[in-house]
Amino acid sequence: MKYLIGIDIGTSGTKTVLFTQTGSVVASDTAEYPLYQPQNGYAEQDPADWWKATITTIQAVLKKSGVDSGKIAGIGLSGQMHGLVMLDEQGEVLRRSIIWCDQRTTKECEEITEKVGKERLIKITANPALTGFTASKILWVRNHEPTVYAKCRHILLPKDYIRYKLTGVFATEVSDASGMQLLDVTNRCWSDEVLEKLGIDKSLLGKVYESPEVTGKVTQTVAELTGLKAGTIVVGGAGDNAAAAVGTGVVEDGKAFTTIGTSGVVFAHTSNISIDLKGRVHTFCCAVPGAWHVMGVTQAAGLSRKWFRDNFCQAEIEASQGTQLDSYDLMDMKAATSPIGANRLLYLPYLMGERTPHLDANARGVFFGLSAMHTKNDLLRAVIEGVSYSLKDSMTVLASMNISVDNMAICGGGSKSTLWRQMLADVYGCSVKTIASKEGAALGVALLAAVGAGIYGSVAEACKAVIEYGDTQQPDESNVKEYAKFYALYKEIYPNLKTSFEKLGKL
Ligand code: XUL
Repeated sequence: MKYLIGIDIGTSGTKTVLFTQTGSVVASDTAEYPLYQPQNGYAEQDPADWWKATITTIQAVLKKSGVDSGKIAGIGLSGQMHGLVMLDEQGEVLRRSIIWCDQRTTKECEEITEKVGKERLIKITANPALTGFTASKILWVRNHEPTVYAKCRHILLPKDYIRYKLTGVFATEVSDASGMQLLDVTNRCWSDEVLEKLGIDKSLLGKVYESPEVTGKVTQTVAELTGLKAGTIVVGGAGDNAAAAVGTGVVEDGKAFTTIGTSGVVFAHTSNISIDLKGRVHTFCCAVPGAWHVMGVTQAAGLSRKWFRDNFCQAEIEASQGTQLDSYDLMDMKAATSPIGANRLLYLPYLMGERTPHLDANARGVFFGLSAMHTKNDLLRAVIEGVSYSLKDSMTVLASMNISVDNMAICGGGSKSTLWRQMLADVYGCSVKTIASKEGAALGVALLAAVGAGIYGSVAEACKAVIEYGDTQQPDESNVKEYAKFYALYKEIYPNLKTSFEKLGKL
């Protein structure tokens, strides 16, 4: 029996999981770290924290499992996308990483659009200039911290910094590199044209691999530090969503998944590149060599429910203490007493602005149709219905791009709710399946490592051997019709409020 390690460098913490070659969890460990917000809209993390968390979680899984590290066939890396790590000549970190949810770079996005040209940028990088993506963060450092920029010799993404620490190699892979806005996403290589127009030296960037390819081997120093065996292979891995796709078996046309975490993502695999010229969804290379994915993002999915719970559901939080149920279970029971449409109450989940389909940082949340007859139960239902309609918006954009979805998996914290899963099946009008393994991204990159180590011949073969589905929710025809009426009205509300949101942002 061989073993695999998947390491996921997330925003709240790093999770390391040791799997058997058939995907069973042998041991798992998580270490958390802080998020720094020195100003409104800023979000930074210290790469030293990621590395410390990686070391301690590797040590912990080896200790807990007692597995001989010589039997570990390979390591896969996953992580938060888009974050900027800058290193000097000696490979030392020059400043804290500016991470994916940092919003300071509106001006730099304008600079990128002007220098590359709006259409050319979308054609090459498959996305319009976005504050979350890495290129605008690089320009921000050049514009605001020129002495730091002058010392910069290497630019890496979060998980690729961990690769450098593990192997000494400066490299990335296509799925995460797609979120830098410097990659020619069609041809899966750095874009000389974009780099030249932005004045970024290509030598700063790592070599680009496909996700299952071997990028380097664990060094002797790291072996001594962690207990891993020197020479253990480290494969390309993938950005967190592309990795979760492998961990949910979404590696063929027709397959898609919805994840409800803080944000919500609808992710569909496609073997033919398809780009939305309006930039409402992201097109990235996926972890399957030669294929892509298209992905829509709801900024405040699980966050909407958490926001409502933390502000208005103290009773449910207290009632759940010391019981088997959690506060969300109790909230669901109340929401289920309200009918479809929440007695004619609609919720727009734009608490953090919105990516899909509006690309509007000024958009904000709305309860539409409040009446004196409404109770908390109706509001609870409206919140999860509104998030479901927002996820349906991503499905609508995918359909307009001729990306058909006939197999929808569901994962993330929100997927634990049976009420929400049934609602999504009814709002989407298709069946929605859970995955037996809850390890998502970590399992995905462990399987990529298995392919790199030659245990499986391809990513699809690895998924076929390992991924098992759990419960399935089928759409109910009469519910589908009922939700469709409310979704039609939901779509009308944002366009009517767009200019009011803009005015609100300026008050
Ligand atoms: C993807 C995105 C997030 C981050 C953090 O575009 O911004 O999913 O990868 O999880």
